[in-house]
Amino acid sequence: MSSWLKRAALAAAAVTLVGAVGLEASMAQGDPIAQRKALMKSNGDAMKAIKAVVDAKGPTAPVVPEAAKIASNLKSAAAHFPAGSDTGDTKASPDIWKNLDEFKKLDESSTAAAMKLEASAKKGDAAVVAADFGELGKSCGACHQKYRLK
Ligand code: HEC
Repeated sequence: MSSWLKRAALAAAAVTLVGAVGLEASMAQGDPIAQRKALMKSNGDAMKAIKAVVDAKGPTAPVVPEAAKIASNLKSAAAHFPAGSDTGDTKASPDIWKNLDEFKKLDESSTAAAMKLEASAKKGDAAVVAADFGELGKSCGACHQKYRLK
């Protein structure tokens, strides 16, 4: 590797590290509303990346890390809805805390849909990936419809 390339690679690694530390820091600050919005925004970005692959009908490999990211985001999402976090700069419906079990179930089934998409993306059949992407999208919508205010 030329020294220029080495420096470029080091710089890129440093940026990634700073990004990760920044996210950790905002998590540590304990603002659950900001945390869950950041997780959800990451879901939205990942869905956009997956949609581009689906529209192009593959290859499906780039979907694998995006679906894995969504699954991981959703797994930790429920922890960022503590009681009382329905006031402030949030669109979370107060109904979440009336039906917390159902909310968590919707979160789990959306997580499962993301894991299913991750698995089909690994196998590489673009038609199956498109179908699983559709199911995942529906699972996001199922929760938003009930528990995210307009
Ligand atoms: C179990 C419920 C649930 C599931 C499942 C869910 N969401 Fe959300 N989502 C919410 C709630 C509640 C909010 C509002 C959070 C707030 O404003 O505090 C939200 C907000 C968002 C936002 C707006 C974030 C912002 O910047 O304000 C995006 C984008 C989003 N979700 C994308 C997704 C995607 C994509 C999926 C599926 C892969 C998904 N969500 C799955 C409940 C869910």
